[in-house]
Amino acid sequence: MNNSKLTALLLLLITAHLYTGVSAYDTVGVYSPVGDHATLQCANVVHPNCSSTTWNYENRGSRSVTELVADGKVTDPQRAERLRVESDCSLHISDLHPEDAGLYTCRQYLIEDGSQHGEDAPVLLSVLSSK
Ligand SMILES: *[C@@H]1O[C@H](CO)[C@@H](O)[C@H](O)[C@H]1NC(C)=O
Repeated sequence: MNNSKLTALLLLLITAHLYTGVSAYDTVGVYSPVGDHATLQCANVVHPNCSSTTWNYENRGSRSVTELVADGKVTDPQRAERLRVESDCSLHISDLHPEDAGLYTCRQYLIEDGSQHGEDAPVLLSVLSSK
């Protein structure tokens, strides 16, 4: 096999792997008006006490990623007073701001500083402007 065929095969394998990786949980869409609240379900909870649960937020415009919750506890000081982790590890956001819109990802880490367990459980939040 020549090099370009090998490269094509590798790309195919990598792509197939990525697709099987993201297909485990479909992205859930949540739509809530500005000023309202939203509850984002964590679909991949492992430990019911939420100790394995993290929530990340990605702003789709700036592509910046912020950790909101780690080990089941709110870690983002800027939004701490509007965030709450529910008993089922879902993420509750109150008084929605337009800039809360974006991709929220629930992830499980069974060991502190260990590698991620299983797949991402993504939730896409749309904040609807009022009236
Ligand atoms: C949460 O549950 C897991 C699994 O049952 C356990 O190992 C861990 O110690 C618990 N963490 C807390 C903070 O209770």
